[in-house]
Amino acid sequence: MDILKRLSHYREEEEKLYWEGTFADYLELLKERPWIAQSAHSRVYNMINDAGVGEVNGKKKYEFFSRQLFGLEEALEKLVEEYFHPAARRLDVRKRVLLLMGPVSGGKSTLVTMLKRGLEAYSRTDKGAVYAIKGCPMHEDPLHLIPSHLRQDFYEEYGIRVEGNLSPLNLMRLEQEYGGRIEDVMIQRIFFSEDRRVGIGTFSPSDPKSQDIADLTGSIDFSTIAEYGSESDPRAYRFDGELNKANRGLMEFQEMLKCDEKFLWHLLSLTQEGNFKAGRFALISADELIVAHTNETEYRSFIANKKNEALHSRIIVMPVPYNLKVSQEEKIYEKMINESDVADVHIAPHTLKVAAMFTILTRLKEPKRGDIDLLKKMRLYDGENVEGFNSADVEELKKEYPEEGMSGIDPRYVINRISSTIIRKEIQSINALDVLRSLKEGLDQHPSITSELKEKYLNYISLARKEYDELAKKEVQKAFVYSYEESAKTLMDNYLDNVEAYCNKVKLRDPLTGEEINPDEKLMRSIEEQIGISENAKKAFREEILIRISAYARKGKRFDYNSHDRLREAIQKKLFADLKDVVKITTSTKTPDETQLKKINEVVARLIDEHGYNSTSANDLLRYVGSLLNR
Ligand SMILES: Nc1ncnc2c1ncn2[C@@H]1O[C@H](COP(=O)(O)OP(=O)(O)O)[C@@H](O)[C@H]1O
Ligand SMILES: [Mg+2]
Repeated sequence: MDILKRLSHYREEEEKLYWEGTFADYLELLKERPWIAQSAHSRVYNMINDAGVGEVNGKKKYEFFSRQLFGLEEALEKLVEEYFHPAARRLDVRKRVLLLMGPVSGGKSTLVTMLKRGLEAYSRTDKGAVYAIKGCPMHEDPLHLIPSHLRQDFYEEYGIRVEGNLSPLNLMRLEQEYGGRIEDVMIQRIFFSEDRRVGIGTFSPSDPKSQDIADLTGSIDFSTIAEYGSESDPRAYRFDGELNKANRGLMEFQEMLKCDEKFLWHLLSLTQEGNFKAGRFALISADELIVAHTNETEYRSFIANKKNEALHSRIIVMPVPYNLKVSQEEKIYEKMINESDVADVHIAPHTLKVAAMFTILTRLKEPKRGDIDLLKKMRLYDGENVEGFNSADVEELKKEYPEEGMSGIDPRYVINRISSTIIRKEIQSINALDVLRSLKEGLDQHPSITSELKEKYLNYISLARKEYDELAKKEVQKAFVYSYEESAKTLMDNYLDNVEAYCNKVKLRDPLTGEEINPDEKLMRSIEEQIGISENAKKAFREEILIRISAYARKGKRFDYNSHDRLREAIQKKLFADLKDVVKITTSTKTPDETQLKKINEVVARLIDEHGYNSTSANDLLRYVGSLLNR
């Protein structure tokens, strides 16, 4: 479909969704679809739920957020279950301003933007439909038309509670345009749009010290006062403040804590009561979610200021910490790179992972338990298997520092380093070493890093570098074997046959000659030695493996290459040890002979075809690993 066709298709779709009718018609709608009368908070909550809620390791995973926010499952669960959910059920929290608190570039703005764009789309669906009094600049809730003395009856018939009073403007219109006949008042379906200023708003203070509350609540229209004769005539008022426009939906409040406390006071009292004062009118009811964001320092100083004390209870703070999982951090970088203008540069495998390792290390706090170092903690947090630890240890580690994730390196910094490297060097390919180097150089220019912290971070860079060295070696060694998985499996089967014979004290049969032979002690030991199993410990190790195999068999599971972490490691190391000399010589020779050349080409081809390298990054990798193996 070409773009013009799509535009007209879109317009048609929008027109199809449009509805208008009298209040009487609206009540009919309401009988069939009572949810259309829901509050703004409830709409947000349902929007999140309707997108789907999964579960990963006993934690909720909201599809709504999962396309753009990574690694924040716990913070999001808290936000949804402790704020949106109770707010949707009209509990008191909805009367407080939601304040997202977290470190710079931790995804707060992204989260708010997702809610805004989400609501715009949701208001175009059946479940998220919103209706308003036609012609009202605040898209007032039609049910406000129901006089208060009839609301109990209405509740009994429709099961819907009405909150909020009819605004002075619509009260006047009701009298003048409709002669007081509520049933005739025109209602229309509205569609949220920040651009059109319907249901979604952003307030960004111009000068926080001298901010005028009118920017939020609208102001007198002096050009029409003469016409209407009085300031208190609602027609002489422009309901065009951000709070007016965001009614029924969401208003983002940027830099909220930078505002003067008088201003805040005004704002917060209005959210508290669910209504606000504009001009010389009675209170205007508002139904909207107000979200602000701040960083920890700003929040602490706000809290420390005695003058703000009374405001605390009108704010609900939800932490948005940094992600603490390496694999999720990688996804963040991928996303940010895809959105940037360096998206077409080749990024060698493991590059983002290694950068992410560094970043996560800067965010983690040193474990208090003596048996876990920072690297292990990093792996455990990412859900990796670490020998001797399980998920209970992870929970325990998390409890050591409930505030973890509020400091460290931010993702934008890493992306800036990556893109500046690319741009400066005009290269078409970038690898982990380039990025680590660039991160290191960047530490000197980083504005907020003390020399003590810098030292720590340099240390994390070298930890990440060591991790990369291991990854690089493994990658190359794997690529040297025609089929790595196959070889590993063959070697393991061979080992297991021997172990079985050894433990059962029986002989094996030679597959070629058919003659009986003793278990191959030399082979078994050459594998076991790779993971430091001593002569004395070998029997126990072999028996343990047999037990594991039969436990698997009992459960009907197949014991395979990945079933036993230590055995897998031993097999891998053994394969690599056998290969080491070939790899070493082949990768480091300056003048390869014909067979070596053939092997190199083969390996490069495999790296490209199977492991995601291009020819530059594959050759760089080989050269680097050659130098590592020759140290
Ligand atoms: N946990 C995360 N998941 C996905 N993207 C993230 C995450 N944290 C930060 N980002 C990305 O980092 C950048 C900065 O985030 P932003 O939302 O502007 O942060 P904040 O408003 O907290 O300063 C954005 O491109 C954002 O998408
Ligand atoms: Mg922001």
